[in-house]
Amino acid sequence: MDTQIKKVLELARAKINSAKVVKDLDQAYIEIFGKDGLMTVLTKQLSNLPQKDRPKTGTLINQLKKEIEERLKKKRSSLTARRSLPSIDITAPGKKQEIGHLHLVSQAIEETVKIFSRLGFSLQSYPEVDWDWYAFGSLNMPKNHPARDDWETFFVKSEINPKYGSQVLTPHTSNGQVREMERVKIPPVRMLNISRCYRRQIDVSHTPMFHQFEGLLIDEDVSISHLKGTFDYFTTNFFGPSRTTRLRPHHFRFTEPSFEVDVTCGVCQGLGCRLCKAGWLELGGAGMVHPKVLSAGEIDPTRYKGFAFGWGIERTIAMKTNIPDIRFFYQNDIRFLEQF
Ligand code: DAH
Repeated sequence: MDTQIKKVLELARAKINSAKVVKDLDQAYIEIFGKDGLMTVLTKQLSNLPQKDRPKTGTLINQLKKEIEERLKKKRSSLTARRSLPSIDITAPGKKQEIGHLHLVSQAIEETVKIFSRLGFSLQSYPEVDWDWYAFGSLNMPKNHPARDDWETFFVKSEINPKYGSQVLTPHTSNGQVREMERVKIPPVRMLNISRCYRRQIDVSHTPMFHQFEGLLIDEDVSISHLKGTFDYFTTNFFGPSRTTRLRPHHFRFTEPSFEVDVTCGVCQGLGCRLCKAGWLELGGAGMVHPKVLSAGEIDPTRYKGFAFGWGIERTIAMKTNIPDIRFFYQNDIRFLEQF
């Protein structure tokens, strides 16, 4: 009987090992424990043994049964684990990772910096929370002057500095003008200051946070024609060769004379349409730096002259791409942002 037990173990082991899928294992189970299975036949033989040998052989058969059941269990779990592995179709085309891109405001900033750097303007960075002095006082706007009302300024609760006054969220990038004069000390100055600005305004053409760029050039013998040439260079490079600029007289406290700069409308190409003022769109402000501003930056206004300009980045993008509402820029709607 001992040899038979060994034989059954060997046969059962072979059947279990050769099973490739769960179905094979089910078949092996039947062949071992089924009606005419190996174990069933073996167990039946127990009754042919003399009474005294039965307990010992019975124990052996029980051990054998346990061992076979254990092996079946192990094999089953290894087969099912293998089956649940994710199947990979290596012939399927790969899934491409989508590549993002810069926000359209960042793209326009990069482009603007490139255009002006070809004219020798270098990018400087000045504070977004600045003293009243740099945002207004040094720009020929004394305290309580009504011109300040044009900038709907956010004031910051801070100590009042005897020289510089209180602090504001910069309502324009012109705060960089006198700061740049203080940095360079001796002209020439060719600065581009791009920064976030803040004003208490929101409608189709205003957001409370927006970007401006400010240009400042100071040298000997600087004239309005240099300013006009600079704008034309920017306009043809940024908007395209068919667009041109004009200067309209205006008033700013920090420039004399002062202008508003218009560019021909991209929709009607200067003919006049619903979007524009008789063919022109307003770009921003500009002018010849006021002698008092040069003096505030300790630059001799009898020797040096300069021109300055400042306008909104979002506005220039809207004018280039004919976006009707600049609030779209900051709504983070991917369907809008993906288009640029
Ligand atoms: N800072 C002005 C504004 O925000 C724009 C401006 C006008 C800037 C004239 C200048 C300038 O540099 O010369 O409305």
